[in-house]
Amino acid sequence: MSERTLVILKPGALERGLVGKIIETIEQKGFSIAGLKILKLTHAQASKLYKMHTKKPFFKDLIQHITSGPVIVMIIEGFRAIEEMRRLSGATNPLEAEIGSIRSKYGLTITKNVIHNAENLENAKREIALFFKPEEIISYMRNVKMYR
Ligand code: CMP
Repeated sequence: MSERTLVILKPGALERGLVGKIIETIEQKGFSIAGLKILKLTHAQASKLYKMHTKKPFFKDLIQHITSGPVIVMIIEGFRAIEEMRRLSGATNPLEAEIGSIRSKYGLTITKNVIHNAENLENAKREIALFFKPEEIISYMRNVKMYR
């Protein structure tokens, strides 16, 4: 089933010049980019995005990092995009992420783990709506067979 998920390239990815490599990895999996923008998140935007973590001990560090520089927010679309993007990104902690996954290759710490993905369909819809108006989302067919 074709799905949309929200992906964020965190400030470390931009600072360290990893944007092209990460997007290439996503494109090579056959996904399309249905929305993309560069933003500097405010504390209010970041707190809304991560509202499920408000009570967690790492919340302050998480908000500090995600607001520390520009991010790229993207809507990634394709077959089972939510689950597949999570798999492609690897475990939250780069030290535990599967070899070859984006976080295992480029993540530094659990906070500086370069990429965020929506966890499930409900969150994907909620997070997409935080950053994109319906008219900013464009679906199209990629002229490729699925690489997966
Ligand atoms: P992300 O996918 O953006 O979703 C929530 C983020 O919180 C996560 O990536 C990590 O950067 C961070 N996070 C999750 N668990 C922990 C933890 N145990 N300690 C510190 N940061 C965490």
